[in-house]
Amino acid sequence: MRSKTRIIIVQLLVGSIFVVLVYKLIPSSRCSEEMDPIEESYRSYEEPADFECFDNKIGSRDGFPIVPNIVHFIRWNQQFSFLDAICVLAAYRNQRPERLIIHTDLDSFDGKYWEMIRNEPGIEDVLEVKHLAVPTEIFDQELNSAWKYWHGGDIARIQVLMKYGGIFLDNDSFLVKSLDEYRKFELTLGWQPGLYLANQAVLAHKNARFLEKWLNSYRHRYYAWGWYYNTGERPTTDILEKEPHLIHRVDKFFCEYTGMMEFLYLENHSNWSEHYVIHLLSRHTEELVKNLSATATYPVVFDEYNIAKYNATIRQIVNSVYNTGHT
Ligand SMILES: *[C@@H]1O[C@H](CO)[C@@H](O)[C@H](O)[C@H]1NC(C)=O
Ligand SMILES: *[C@@H]1O[C@H](CO)[C@@H](O)[C@H](O)[C@H]1NC(C)=O
Ligand SMILES: *[C@@H]1O[C@H](CO)[C@@H](O)[C@H](O)[C@H]1NC(C)=O
Ligand SMILES: *[C@@H]1O[C@H](CO)[C@@H](O)[C@H](O)[C@H]1NC(C)=O
Ligand SMILES: *[C@@H]1O[C@H](CO)[C@@H](O)[C@H](O)[C@H]1NC(C)=O
Repeated sequence: MRSKTRIIIVQLLVGSIFVVLVYKLIPSSRCSEEMDPIEESYRSYEEPADFECFDNKIGSRDGFPIVPNIVHFIRWNQQFSFLDAICVLAAYRNQRPERLIIHTDLDSFDGKYWEMIRNEPGIEDVLEVKHLAVPTEIFDQELNSAWKYWHGGDIARIQVLMKYGGIFLDNDSFLVKSLDEYRKFELTLGWQPGLYLANQAVLAHKNARFLEKWLNSYRHRYYAWGWYYNTGERPTTDILEKEPHLIHRVDKFFCEYTGMMEFLYLENHSNWSEHYVIHLLSRHTEELVKNLSATATYPVVFDEYNIAKYNATIRQIVNSVYNTGHT
């Protein structure tokens, strides 16, 4: 009797181990098949339709680019400032995109900084201005009208990437060098240890899983007075911390980090060129606690003349795409 019970218990154990093994093997065998290397459909950037088994540490097979070489900027209700134009020139020269799309609610751009962009040799072949209305709601929740340009921009960048795929850059994101090596991943963004994701520079295939999850995380949960809640905090804690494999994560060379304001505006460093993208944060120079010199003061709205007085990293950065006559 006793030994029979023991046998039954052993059989049950062996049986359940078998069931667990089979259960574990089925999904992984589905993922072990390599993704279809249909190069032609990759080239149209319509594929992959499904990233379920995609490895964002390795990227596409043979490093084939799956993210289209399209740079997107979004501008609401604003003409170009000097540094904004510098950022467009940097994206053009350093990335050499096939399309450079500026999405805006304005009918057209004008002014000398728009001319500065248009005078760039070759840019006319890739530059497009597309009308995009500022979002006013998300999943039937009205956006905070006081922050509509910012919350609207946060949402619109996800939607633009879901429509086209490509490389989204914030107004004041300076692209230092080509991001081509990241075009083999489903989605790439900056996310520093212990912080929330950064949305100033995002590369994505339009079918990237995280884009849809990111947008859907606003459903029933839009928090009008959370500056970075919906676009940064919640998707980090609710999605990425649980499923980090959804993205290719890069550290500080994609986003700003502590001390960046001083690095750019008060100090003079050459290692800015190690970054891929630098968020210039140029609308925040009032936060600086000292001036560079008696004539190079803060806050400042930079232009092509006063930049010459600022013997700091920002001048080297600007100089790399625009000759200020001073190094
Ligand atoms: C882009 O920059 C302008 C200021 O130059 C700002 O008013 C606007 O809100 C920014 N747009 C987005 C989407 O962040
Ligand atoms: C510029 O800054 C460097 C140090 O960052 C300093 O050595 C140099 O004297 C400064 N030049 C001018 C013209 O202020
Ligand atoms: C700032 O630093 C760069 C790189 O080290 C150097 O080439 C340049 O001369 C410096 N600028 C000044 C004015 O000293
Ligand atoms: C650049 O150099 C400065 C000074 O050496 C250093 O403090 C900083 O961490 C460096 N930044 C990067 C991104 O390497
Ligand atoms: C920097 O210079 C400006 C203009 O002279 C002045 O208003 C401001 O108080 C100065 N800032 C600091 C921190 O000294």
